[in-house]
Amino acid sequence: MRRIAIINQKGGVGKTTTTVNIGVALARAGHRVLLIDLDPQAHLTLHLGQDPGAGQLGTYELLTGSASFAKARRKAGQNLWLVGSSIDLAGAEVELVSVVGREVILRDLLDQHVGAGRDHHRPQYDYVLIDCPPSLGVLTLNGLCAAGEVFIPLQPHYLALQGLGKLLETISLVNKRINPGLLVSGVVLCMYDAGTKLAGEVVQDVRTFFGEAKDQDLPWRATRIFDTVIRRNIKLAEAPSYGQSIFDYAPDSNGAKDYARLAAEIHAPPAVLHSEESPEAAAPEAASPQEVAPPEPPVQPEEPPPPSLTPPLGATA
Ligand SMILES: Nc1ncnc2c1ncn2[C@@H]1O[C@H](COP(=O)(O)OP(=O)(O)O)[C@@H](O)[C@H]1O
Ligand SMILES: [Mg+2]
Repeated sequence: MRRIAIINQKGGVGKTTTTVNIGVALARAGHRVLLIDLDPQAHLTLHLGQDPGAGQLGTYELLTGSASFAKARRKAGQNLWLVGSSIDLAGAEVELVSVVGREVILRDLLDQHVGAGRDHHRPQYDYVLIDCPPSLGVLTLNGLCAAGEVFIPLQPHYLALQGLGKLLETISLVNKRINPGLLVSGVVLCMYDAGTKLAGEVVQDVRTFFGEAKDQDLPWRATRIFDTVIRRNIKLAEAPSYGQSIFDYAPDSNGAKDYARLAAEIHAPPAVLHSEESPEAAAPEAASPQEVAPPEPPVQPEEPPPPSLTPPLGATA
């Protein structure tokens, strides 16, 4: 079972869109998926066509101890479950302020839940995806402590890397103090304007930055910059207001193609982890056979010599 927190403290970078659509893509490929909405704005919940209020139990009740996972989760499709959110969750931060161990509430409850629901043959879920709010407060900390992996969605513009230092510093601290296995396993480029010089340049900067961490003892030493980029696609922006994933709303759109391909890439083993210098070595033919189709060849250009521009990333603790 993979537990993945989708995090970026910036709003509007594609966290929720990515959580919903990779969740649905993985569920459609036959994997059992639990989605957890940790954002009081409840965009994930709404995007799945679910009611965020009206007496529904969700992440607020979980974190404040008034509901179990079994009670708070609901079925959101075939192979797909949701623990939804509501505006009440905005109060959790304050309510939990004096609770000892408030960062690990979600982790402990999730451990219990998946432990109890396990049968002899397979874990209860194949994927748990946690959509985090645009902040680094106690809700996001709960996401980081409950996860084994972090995906960072980035929008490729000049300020994309700004603030990443703070996020990585937080991940590093959680890794040191609470969750030693935590890894930043992937970066997803969202709202990508294919063919623009800017997008290409930002992607190079991102590759260079993560490439430099490769031999260091950092949670982002093995981060994959996914070859699949999510192109800007109006259907992705329209789908939430219909309460549908892109696969239901516009199955033939580029948005559906990109997220299906990304989900396949996520599910594939990270064969490319040690071959950053030669993305060609990670051609899909070289990967082992998968339940879902392997990704197509990289759409990114090969990594050039590192540019002189160093991304404005803060040092980490
Ligand atoms: N690839 C894309 N193309 C066009 N619009 C997108 C794309 N990805 C996300 N959006 C839209 O951009 C906005 C922000 O995305 P969202 O996933 O909600 O970001 P976050 O969860 O990081 O705040 C939403 O209105 C969403 O529908
Ligand atoms: Mg969101």
